[in-house]
Amino acid sequence: MKKNLIFKQFIKNPATIGALCSSSPALCREMIADINISWSRSVVELGPGTGAITGAILESIRPGSEFFAIELDPAIYEEFKHRFPNVKIFNDSASNMGKIIKKHGMEKVDTIISGLPWASFPHSLQREIMHPILDNLNDGGYFTTFAYIQGVFIPSARRFRKFLSESFSSVETSRVIWSNLPPAFVYRCRK
Ligand SMILES: C[S@@+](CC[C@H](N)C(=O)[O-])C[C@H]1O[C@@H](n2cnc3c(N)ncnc32)[C@H](O)[C@@H]1O
Repeated sequence: MKKNLIFKQFIKNPATIGALCSSSPALCREMIADINISWSRSVVELGPGTGAITGAILESIRPGSEFFAIELDPAIYEEFKHRFPNVKIFNDSASNMGKIIKKHGMEKVDTIISGLPWASFPHSLQREIMHPILDNLNDGGYFTTFAYIQGVFIPSARRFRKFLSESFSSVETSRVIWSNLPPAFVYRCRK
């Protein structure tokens, strides 16, 4: 595995990568907690990076369920394929998830897990990705994502939080994972 690839890509493209390093094991566990993942028939991961959360997802999904990931950065996509040769991954934008899901022969999915750096995204991109998430998630399904605590007061992060509250039937906030670098928490949203 290429060490520090997330850091290298962050230097080239900070707004797309949005983090200096991968999520910690504790944050990855929190990302898949309390979202019925072991019952889910279909799971999509957006912005998996080099696969920190993917490892936790693979340990928890039920055998036979559909799972694939969508990663925008070509170098990170190649590294992911090398690390998880048996996981389907598309080198594309999460905003195209609707087309990818249909190409996969699915209507909608039960669970969407996102490692995307929402707070670095402009409003237009937040909406461009959130709309297909809402359109392609089954009723009762979960969307989960994390946020860094130091960013919660910046306008893009507040706008994103408001959008979640307006769009989902429930939005829960997890405990803060202080051991993550930087400390982060999870939004668990139910459609
Ligand atoms: C903060 S990293 C998170 C990596 C990993 N999920 C983790 O938690 O360690 C964000 C990832 O989202 C990817 N990304 C950013 N914009 C994207 C988009 N529009 N579609 C798909 N992936 C995207 C980046 O290339 C990067 O790999």
